Amino acid sequence: MTKPPPGDRTVKTLERVISKAGLGSRTEARSWIGAGRVRVNGKVIQTPDHWVDLERDRVTLDGKPVKPGRMLYILLYKPTGYITTYRDPEGRPTVYDLLDGVDSFVGTVGRLDQDTSGLLLLTNDNAFAERVTNPGHEIPKTYLVKTSTLLSEGDLERLRNGVELSDGPTRPAQVKRIRDSAKYTFIELTITEGRNRQVRRMIEAVGGKVLKLVRTAIGPIQIGSLEIGKWRVLADAERAELLGRPRI
Ligand code: URA
Repeated sequence: MTKPPPGDRTVKTLERVISKAGLGSRTEARSWIGAGRVRVNGKVIQTPDHWVDLERDRVTLDGKPVKPGRMLYILLYKPTGYITTYRDPEGRPTVYDLLDGVDSFVGTVGRLDQDTSGLLLLTNDNAFAERVTNPGHEIPKTYLVKTSTLLSEGDLERLRNGVELSDGPTRPAQVKRIRDSAKYTFIELTITEGRNRQVRRMIEAVGGKVLKLVRTAIGPIQIGSLEIGKWRVLADAERAELLGRPRI
């Protein structure tokens, strides 16, 4: 594959042009291209990495023009029981089953475990997704956590300072005790990383288990009064605020 002209934003790979148009995932785009269903300027192209100039080239899928997609940003209140992949070989429900009315393909911005509920962003804007998930940008993610045991002030202090996990120490976190019941502690935990099962592993590191985990916010964006299982479009101002937010 040759390199596209440097800095030319209208040049993209064929696979990206199709997925960005909201017609399907990148995997689907690759399979359509491989199957010979895609033409560029009338000629069948079966190389997903073929460079396309959106201003000049005419791309079709099954003879229908592929038009550049608009950027779409979705906020979903994910219920437990749903997984954050597009297709599940085991046939479990996925978050895509909840996106009725979303007519473009959007990818999940990071992941939530099957047993975690709460705020999940989905978008077709890869640069936005990268900004939100890259730990280098330190965008805070806030969780409401119910633990299986009562956590002491010392435990909370350890979580604040960072605990040792198998993949290294965690960064300092914000921890607020919400309340204790007879057997459980409820805390609000804000972290700036998004490692696999991080919150569950942090609580295990202080001797407890997570009984319930809900993501309530990403940066300044709150789940608010959105009903569980429903989605809404993110307002432009929310997106701008998220990207411009100072670090915790
Ligand atoms: N931390 C976890 O342990 N699970 C999630 O789903 C999100 C953060």
